[in-house]
Amino acid sequence: MRNFHISRSFVAFTLFSTILVAINNANASEHQQVHIALGTDETEMVITWATIESIDDHGVVNFGTSSDNLTDSVTAVTTYFEDDDAYWYNYRALLTGLKPSTTYYYRVGSKASSWSKVFQFKTLNSGNKWLPSFAIYGDLGIENERSLPYLTKDVEKGMYDVIFHIGDMAYDLYEYGGSRGNNFMRMLEPIAARMPYMTTTGNHEKAKNFSHYDARFSMIGDRHQPNYSADLTDRLNNHFYSLDIGPAHIIIFSTEFYYYTRWGWEQIRWQYRWLEDELIRANQNRKERPWIIVMGHRPFYCLVAGDKCNRKTLERGPIKNGVHYDKTKKSQLNYGLEDLFYKYGVDLQLYGHEHFFVRFYPVHKNVSPSRPKETNPYEDPVAPVFITTGNAVRYFIYYIQPTNSL
Ligand SMILES: *[C@@H]1O[C@H](CO)[C@@H](O)[C@H](O)[C@H]1NC(C)=O
Ligand SMILES: *[C@@H]1O[C@H](CO)[C@@H](O)[C@H](O)[C@H]1NC(C)=O
Ligand SMILES: *[C@@H]1O[C@H](CO)[C@@H](O)[C@H](O)[C@H]1NC(C)=O
Ligand SMILES: [Fe+2]
Repeated sequence: MRNFHISRSFVAFTLFSTILVAINNANASEHQQVHIALGTDETEMVITWATIESIDDHGVVNFGTSSDNLTDSVTAVTTYFEDDDAYWYNYRALLTGLKPSTTYYYRVGSKASSWSKVFQFKTLNSGNKWLPSFAIYGDLGIENERSLPYLTKDVEKGMYDVIFHIGDMAYDLYEYGGSRGNNFMRMLEPIAARMPYMTTTGNHEKAKNFSHYDARFSMIGDRHQPNYSADLTDRLNNHFYSLDIGPAHIIIFSTEFYYYTRWGWEQIRWQYRWLEDELIRANQNRKERPWIIVMGHRPFYCLVAGDKCNRKTLERGPIKNGVHYDKTKKSQLNYGLEDLFYKYGVDLQLYGHEHFFVRFYPVHKNVSPSRPKETNPYEDPVAPVFITTGNAVRYFIYYIQPTNSL
């Protein structure tokens, strides 16, 4: 049993942080911060939660298709996270063998400690002949969380199948000894325990090599990910992964590897190679899943100069055009993503970071390629369509029969 309470209460910089620390400790032995993520496919779901103190038992998920008869049970993998004055226990359980398009009820906890309330989620439909509905946003904090009341209502109505939070959360998860993160995850619970909450990193997750972010989420991606056959905790990849959902192949990646090379350069190369393999595979499967959608945090094109945005060209060079790998300035630019995504016919690219909503015309190399007049630029687009959705703005994708091919 860890007990850092005393040292923590002295680390109260402001009245506000005192309150955060107090809230954090009040819930110490409770199973809390419950959230879910898609597993390999529609027959799986990953349940993740935390306790601040250890429990004298294994964390367990009880689940079933009736709210008063949770017949099945999965034991979670527990990991301890510690960093400066932050610490907590993570529980992760992979539910398998679920029926598609079915509502499941579940609770988390343990016999020796306590149980959470009963939550519910609905598994995705199988196959490609259905119309998924997504909420996609970046940049949701614990203060000024303007879209949260709307999201909560929408989630209660079952308006979405999946939520994507594409970077920048809590501002920042690691702060106040992780209390900021704990409170943020509690704030998310009503939506994220009910709907798959899929994430990637933004610049605000960079602290300590993204470790606070990594400790709190459990993205595994589909069966083609490199570590598919490893144990749950060894196959987590919270930075880049991909999924088939209905008619779409969805690829989530990190723009932040390009900006925080203090944590290593290798990540850029690993991710780039993975992305290309992934795009080749997505194109082999394009008849089944005609949409290829990529999501990350920082948009290639910026509307507001500053913040790593080139003032003349209004672009973010490193991710878009590439980097001098390993700071050897003489080498040519490598690992730029614009050409890669264009080459493999990506339909749609979604980013956050800038706190507004923008939908571009199809764009490649800073121009919208010409097309016959009076045609709909979004139908069979000649280049990827970029969307910036960076202030937790509500956004929907409706199903449109894609006609574009390579
Ligand atoms: C709970 O579910 C199990 C398995 O589906 C079933 O055998 C049992 O009768 C159910 N119990 C109740 C009280 O509904
Ligand atoms: C994960 O995949 C990478 C790349 O294929 C491999 O080098 C590594 O050993 C794998 N790790 C585990 C735990 O399987
Ligand atoms: C940061 O984490 C990644 C794995 O997520 C690891 O490969 C890398 O070596 C780490 N960098 C440092 C400087 O510890
Ligand atoms: Fe950002």
